[in-house]
Amino acid sequence: MDRRERLIARARQGYRLAFGVEPTRFVAAPGVVNLIGEHVDYNDGYVLPCAIDREAIVAFGPPSPETKQKLFEAVALDMGDMASARDSFDLVAPIRPGENNWQNHVRGVVQALGRYGHRVRPMRMAIAGDVPIGAGLSSSAAFGVAVALACSEHSGLSLGAETLAKVAQLAENDFVGCACGIMDQMASAASVADHALLLDCRTLQHLPIPIHSSLAITVIDTGLRRSLTESAFNHRRAECEAVAQHFGVKALRDLDAAKLEAGAAGLDPVLHARARHVVGEIERVEPVAVALARGDTALLAEVMREAHLSLSLDFDVSLPPIDQLAALIAEALGDAGGVRLTGAGFGGCLVAVAAHEAGTAIDDAVARHNATADLPARAETFKPISGAAPIVIG
Ligand code: GLA
Repeated sequence: MDRRERLIARARQGYRLAFGVEPTRFVAAPGVVNLIGEHVDYNDGYVLPCAIDREAIVAFGPPSPETKQKLFEAVALDMGDMASARDSFDLVAPIRPGENNWQNHVRGVVQALGRYGHRVRPMRMAIAGDVPIGAGLSSSAAFGVAVALACSEHSGLSLGAETLAKVAQLAENDFVGCACGIMDQMASAASVADHALLLDCRTLQHLPIPIHSSLAITVIDTGLRRSLTESAFNHRRAECEAVAQHFGVKALRDLDAAKLEAGAAGLDPVLHARARHVVGEIERVEPVAVALARGDTALLAEVMREAHLSLSLDFDVSLPPIDQLAALIAEALGDAGGVRLTGAGFGGCLVAVAAHEAGTAIDDAVARHNATADLPARAETFKPISGAAPIVIG
């Protein structure tokens, strides 16, 4: 059994245990790692994420004939014991937040679908996943997009990737309370295997960029998790909005380095630094897309080094042990590839885009770091897979 088959088997078994019958269908949505364009999506800029071979899988089927036909029932297999991991709510009454965070991801999606004018039919679902939670690999986006796709399939809505992504984002914004952008959900919904997704977060236009066959995507989990990530994230977003307001533009996407410097008088130095990161980061997306397609590891090394420093010094979302690990890996890689902090930050993961042969250099650097670090880091190479889709069981 491969990874995905095991996950499907777990979702199937969980459904059977929870509801006493077999599920009728399955869908999957992948986790995501962002290669460049960090803290840029909610500033309407360009980003370059890619879906990874870790997924949320939803097994689903019709409602129980015995219970009320208007019920939506869900069980989340990775979210605690059978009691706390179960949820059911009435599709006719207004949908209110649940007691657990995961319940709000499900309830939020069903409510968001309603706000987009789509009616979800009563159903039952079991959700299982292997995207590491809280590591910056978009486990929430995978969860939300998978739930939205299961609802769409079950209710005959035929929703496209953009709508699935918007629904999952709205659920997080309004029901879960995280002011996240659209990047993770779009990458989870619309990625193409062996490609990264160049996404314009203002228009949602997207273009798959081939990942050169000489390159490997490695994620180095630092093991560090900072609590209050959501409030710190929301705070950064508010800082960016304050700068946009200062300049009278819709979003920081509408500035460039020259405009930023010309209008910086009277701008708080911290806000200035935040904007400098965003404006510079948007400019770094195109060279990384080119380097990715060409397999230009020296260019990746240079641009990703700049990107990491900018996130650490100007956007202030790194931590000293993460900076040390990034520097160790960058040194070990030399011109063989780049490394930088990925995701929201405040802990989480580094991503390296490097020649396959450089894998041992990354492993050695991580081992050296672990010899003295309080928390061991772990490197893992992922395969870029395609976005959310129904699973055809042969
Ligand atoms: C989180 C959010 C994304 C994006 C990144 C930072 O992962 O969910 O929308 O803002 O942080 O790039």
